[in-house]
Amino acid sequence: MELQDKTFEDYQKTYQHSVDKPEEFWAGIAENFYWRRKWNNVLSWNFKEPAIKWFEGAKVNITENCLDRHIYNLGDKPAIIWEPNDPNEAYRVLSYKQLLGKVEQFANVLKNNGIHKGDRVCLYLPMVPELAIAVLACARIGAIHSVVFGGFSAQSIADRINDATCKLVITADGGFRGTKTIDLKNIVDDALVQCKSVERVIVLTRTRTPVAMLKGRDVWWEDEIKKVETQGNPAYPAEEMDAEDTLFILYTSGSTGKPKGVVHTTGGYMVYTGYTFSNAFQYQPGEVYFCTADIGWITGHSYIIYGPLSQGATSLMFEGVPSWPDSGRLWDIVAKHRVNIIYTAPTAIRSLMAAGDEYVEGKDLSSITKLGSVGEPLNEEAWHWFDEKIGKGKAPIVDTYWQTETGGFLISPIAGVTPTKPGYALLPLPGVQPILVDEQGAEITGNGVSGNLCIKFPWPGMLRTTWGDHERCRQTYFSTYENLYFTGDGCLRDESGYYRITGRVDDVLNVSGHRIGTAEVENAINMHSDVVESAVVGYPHPVKGQGIYAFVVSGEHHQIDTELARQDINKTVARIIGAIAKPDKIQFVSGLPKTRSGKIMRRILRKIAEGDTSNLGDTSTLLDPEVVNEIKAGALTGEKTS
Ligand code: WT7
Repeated sequence: MELQDKTFEDYQKTYQHSVDKPEEFWAGIAENFYWRRKWNNVLSWNFKEPAIKWFEGAKVNITENCLDRHIYNLGDKPAIIWEPNDPNEAYRVLSYKQLLGKVEQFANVLKNNGIHKGDRVCLYLPMVPELAIAVLACARIGAIHSVVFGGFSAQSIADRINDATCKLVITADGGFRGTKTIDLKNIVDDALVQCKSVERVIVLTRTRTPVAMLKGRDVWWEDEIKKVETQGNPAYPAEEMDAEDTLFILYTSGSTGKPKGVVHTTGGYMVYTGYTFSNAFQYQPGEVYFCTADIGWITGHSYIIYGPLSQGATSLMFEGVPSWPDSGRLWDIVAKHRVNIIYTAPTAIRSLMAAGDEYVEGKDLSSITKLGSVGEPLNEEAWHWFDEKIGKGKAPIVDTYWQTETGGFLISPIAGVTPTKPGYALLPLPGVQPILVDEQGAEITGNGVSGNLCIKFPWPGMLRTTWGDHERCRQTYFSTYENLYFTGDGCLRDESGYYRITGRVDDVLNVSGHRIGTAEVENAINMHSDVVESAVVGYPHPVKGQGIYAFVVSGEHHQIDTELARQDINKTVARIIGAIAKPDKIQFVSGLPKTRSGKIMRRILRKIAEGDTSNLGDTSTLLDPEVVNEIKAGALTGEKTS
């Protein structure tokens, strides 16, 4: 079966087939991949436990699909183009042949360091080719990778390492981001004070900042490579994996205080990321594809590494930030490498739009044929700017809706094939069966309606469990509504049947495309010795999408100097979670609005944070209604006050 729908009629036919005969459909899609042994059974599932198995009995290695099978036809074609933080540093190109060589070499390094199939490996690296190499080397030997985004704190790394009992950490001395360098190894050292399971740390040289290297534990990446070279660079045949063996863990935030390890398995994830990449972007051989995400997030896993590489694409990876040396950097990269497809995030689009059109004008964007967006709703103003200034009105925009848990796109236009509509993720891709339900779980049918977005049938890329806690997976995604996967998002289906995601309906914030749980931020704020309690809500932010607004009840130390108190709290949050979770606004209050049973009335706080205090609803059930007036009077306006 073809991976790409070429016309809207094709799409409709494929979609109907995928709903009528999902197993036949997915078996046909899976035929486009290389399996050591085919499956006995395409799918067995129930959403009750949940227990979901795709391609059971099949034997496969995803790196054979991403690398080995391309060598004959595409061996000398670029697999990865790497653009460094500093535009004056040389860029790097790794052909498929070279990338395979490096992955095999590093697979040998992993073996030499005692890593076996099933072991967990934590990666805390900057956006350099070695991150992709390490990810693929883990997959090649069947070790489970857990990539931690470079913006997380030592405490966050430690929590993730301990939850997955990682044996090995791979990091770098430091990383470059714009004018900053981040001392990654130092942060890892702080984390490892709490981690008993870690036996080895492999350190890549990037910034050559001084680092502590602990005898018996820490080794340099470059030294380990030399050892493999003296062994004669033996080939490393890919480990044979079951389709349902775990490929990786990726931690993400939910509505409780503790991030959960989303587990993706091998066969289904491979098929799903490869298929959705090929179809939604209509990838053509030779096109240069640039996804601006970080590999520390699911977007980087699925659509910098696995999806594009399994399709023999050229994937451009960028180490730096869009605003440095100036806000024209992404467009310089497009011109320099003749990028055809650029896949980015609404927050980046909005901030570049705000920087001014002078950074786009005069840039050669003639190579661009397709545009993509992910992470949050792409508001209409940003959609039009992206379309006009970057796509010059001729590049379709695919607004891809999906989640860490879904592995790949769920609802998305197909470039040039389905229509587009600003603000809309549009239509489900083949194999995806969305339904809208009301609070009681009753299906909302028809068009021109809104509800909570659920999926009623499994798709190959969906999560299988949360690491070490299957019950939590059941509770979070499969227990709100019987027999449905609940996304946590609200959604509108317009008169044409097109889907528009309206945002989270749970206590999860989306700040610059980073997913942050309000409970997590509250826990972090409450760690400060002078904080009594706190409540965190989101508010609309023109660039970040959502900003973090914290209401804090503080002790007497903090009442002396509020500005210092704010800084104290920010430091605390940065230590516990990472700088990405620092509140934009901190309002000190004498109490929080609570019901008589002690529940915080977040609805009221949300309204105040949004700047809409005209109608706060019924406050008569509050323990102390007076506190609301005080909070209203002290509400912080503007974009940022911390
Ligand atoms: C949440 C998932 C999937 C990779 C990036 C984020 C929101 C994501 C869209 C979109 C509207 C979107 C949802 C979702 N979201 N893409 N195109 N339109 N909202 O992954 O960190 O797992 O966050 O991001 O609210 O639930 P994530």
